[in-house]
Amino acid sequence: MIPVAEPCLGKEELKNVIEAVKSGWISSKGKFIEEFEEKFARYCGRKYGVATSNGTVALHLALKALGIGKGDEVIVPTLTFVATANAVTYCNAKPVFVDSHPEYWCINPDKIEEKITPRTKAIIPVHLYGHPCDMDLIMKIAEDHNLYVIEDAAEAHGAEYKGEKVGSFGDISCFSFYGNKIITTGEGGMCLTNNEELAEKMRILRDHGMNPTRRYWHDIIGFNYRMTNMQAAVGIAQLKKLDEFVEKKRTIAKLYKEALSELEKKRLIKLHKEMSWAKCVYWMYCILINNKAKISRDDLIKQLEEKGIETRPFFYPMHVLPPYKNSEELPVAEEIAKKGVNLPSAVGLTKRDVQIISEAITGILMENYGGD
Ligand SMILES: Cc1ncc(COP(=O)(O)O)c(C=O)c1O
Repeated sequence: MIPVAEPCLGKEELKNVIEAVKSGWISSKGKFIEEFEEKFARYCGRKYGVATSNGTVALHLALKALGIGKGDEVIVPTLTFVATANAVTYCNAKPVFVDSHPEYWCINPDKIEEKITPRTKAIIPVHLYGHPCDMDLIMKIAEDHNLYVIEDAAEAHGAEYKGEKVGSFGDISCFSFYGNKIITTGEGGMCLTNNEELAEKMRILRDHGMNPTRRYWHDIIGFNYRMTNMQAAVGIAQLKKLDEFVEKKRTIAKLYKEALSELEKKRLIKLHKEMSWAKCVYWMYCILINNKAKISRDDLIKQLEEKGIETRPFFYPMHVLPPYKNSEELPVAEEIAKKGVNLPSAVGLTKRDVQIISEAITGILMENYGGD
């Protein structure tokens, strides 16, 4: 089976983990954590990093630190992984869903303002499948309406918007280091910010709300959202390879584009697009199966699986899921979600693998092609 994602771990990850184990510092104290925080923050062009146990709690921590609570509304794209919306719900706030941009699938900035109410406190743009959001437009809306911006960059380590790294725009940005992410610590996450006060608040909230100068004195109710030294040990080794991974992902995307362009010309599929202002890191290389193809997206997925190729459907839009269901129609996201497939995108994928996958897709779609 060619997997849809696979971590790329090497000798240095192992060496660092052994060092952490031998030192005895295996919980959330130890030299690797601060080093990882500092280096990852610097990589993204931010001053402070607060490492967490996963990306979901990074989002929760960011929202809490910004004071989001009961009765507040937070704008999120409807097409994202459920964690973005859940983190808002954990704060007893309401996620308000916005439709996708038809070209690059992230939140459509032109659809944000109509969703702003007096209760709106923040926007969470999600750099979906490795493609950056249009941050100039989003930051301008946030400034005009006095809203916080929390970037959800879980899927976009190393991506750039107009030459600046994603994660360097919002009040706080959040990353995931889950096993299928561009760099991984197994489970793990991080919040980045340039605001010292927010960083300190997040550190306190991450550690049960404990006063940093008075042990077991808890001024506020916090959480245990800490990352372990062993996770950070892996993260430091992974971070050294991030640029190499990004280039590999972009090469894989280029190979897919070349191999599948005929299908796009026949309008059977739509390829993953990179906007002129974006450097997409193609966390997952994606295609949309057009209605013109005589096979459904789900049947294509099934047939590829029979050929030993693992793929994934796109996320469901949040507004159709039972916890968030409403009568609203967000047609662009609904359409993209129905048609989208994540193709195998692991950095270990070879040119031959991409060829095999592309030939399999071409074979299945052409078999069902009735011509114009
Ligand atoms: C957009 C997005 N946000 C948040 C998360 C949550 O991260 P984690 O799985 O590390 O909790 C993920 C993925 O897993 C994600 O894809």
